[in-house]
Amino acid sequence: MARTKTFYTCSNCGHQSPKWLGKCPDCNQWNTLTEETQAPAPKGRAAGWVPANSQPPQKLSEVTATEEDRLSCGISELNRALGGGVVPGSLTLIGGDPGIGKSTLLLQAAHHLAAQGTILYVTAEESARQVKLRASRLGTSSDSLYLLAETSLDTVLKQTRELKPAALVIDSIQTIFTSELESAPGSVSQVRECAGKLMMLAKGEGVPTFIVGHVTKDGSIAGPRVLEHMVDTVLYFEGDPGHPYRILRTVKNRFGSTNEIGVFEMQENGLQEVENPSELFLAERPVNTPGSVVVPSLEGSRPILVEIQALVSGASFGTPRRTTMGIDHNRASLLVAVLEKKVELALLSQDIFLNVAGGVRLDEPAVDLGILAALASSHLNRPISARTVLFGEVGLTGEIRAVSQPELRVREAARLGFDRCILPQGSLKNLTSPQGITLHGIKTAAEALELLFDTP
Ligand code: TYD
Ligand code: MG
Repeated sequence: MARTKTFYTCSNCGHQSPKWLGKCPDCNQWNTLTEETQAPAPKGRAAGWVPANSQPPQKLSEVTATEEDRLSCGISELNRALGGGVVPGSLTLIGGDPGIGKSTLLLQAAHHLAAQGTILYVTAEESARQVKLRASRLGTSSDSLYLLAETSLDTVLKQTRELKPAALVIDSIQTIFTSELESAPGSVSQVRECAGKLMMLAKGEGVPTFIVGHVTKDGSIAGPRVLEHMVDTVLYFEGDPGHPYRILRTVKNRFGSTNEIGVFEMQENGLQEVENPSELFLAERPVNTPGSVVVPSLEGSRPILVEIQALVSGASFGTPRRTTMGIDHNRASLLVAVLEKKVELALLSQDIFLNVAGGVRLDEPAVDLGILAALASSHLNRPISARTVLFGEVGLTGEIRAVSQPELRVREAARLGFDRCILPQGSLKNLTSPQGITLHGIKTAAEALELLFDTP
């Protein structure tokens, strides 16, 4: 009998090692390597074995596939994140922290999809009754929506082949298991093997499949990261538990652009789409208060106006504090140094707090100028006009660099009634200013602050 081989897999990134290590050499996480036994190869696969359903190569011109094949989920924010609807035979992973609303979103999507065909919703975490209770609260009921409370993947595969649904939802990948492996549900090998089988099912039968995966910080359950390369589309559902807003972000998409986002608001009767995120994020903005500034940030192809807030105050202890929420800490430190050195504002000994309103995360360099202006505004105790927006990347010498898609940003600002936009001189080229908004091109950070604070 062949000896079973064991190896160790990182539950965070999927790295494999023949011996146990305290720290994963790939992702540098501690204590994430877990022991696994290798899955035995299916019996009867001799060398040169060819699957029964193998096909000869096809000419590309003879393959038929059109954009019209996509199914609409009935939730336009979800369709947008998917690149315009669900592609038949695609495998979509929806990741996110527990309790963020993944099951709610998929139940709502399943309800809309059920208008177009039979939908199978496999609930491996909650009982069918629990899902029913939730569904009644969401006001979803449909005769073509089938529930299956099952944790065995083999049963799920069998039932799917019998029911032949138009779409399949697996909630969640960490709680289903295949009996071919001995390891517990949620271990890296189970998660990977189950996802592989679901992929074969999706591609083979042409059933679009949604998989829910919890993102976990401790290494006890395999995170969805190990699945990212297997599936066609990866969507992450993000949000701050203290805020009702949820952002569905496309991280990978074989059928559309990445970095698209969908914005939702969690309400009592489920997730509601937010069609005008800018208005939502600016709703509670204080007017004429120092430290608050509005920036047009681009999320994928979508401009969103968000408010950045800064608070600069004298440090009470030796080492000043730097706290940022929604903004990269290193980026903020860099901008403080630029203000200190190039604009000569004495910030180094000050406590600095930065926040993006609404629990949004800003990763774009285009928001640099906004952060800089918010810091300066709070430090000088001078408010920035409520109808001014600004964007631009700040370089180490204090220069302002051009950013992508200035026209989208300016148009969104003009649409929401802003009348002045400060932007990089380099972005001003070929830009036609929409009605009602004045554009000021600038080259340095000092110039921007002069425009903001020296005009009455
Ligand atoms: P859920 O979809 O169960 O999260 P996940 O599947 O990602 O773990 O969402 C759970 C949270 O959503 C829960 O804290 C309550 C909240 N919620 C509402 O606020 N309104 C609703 O209508 C529903 C169904 C859930
Ligand atoms: Mg859930």
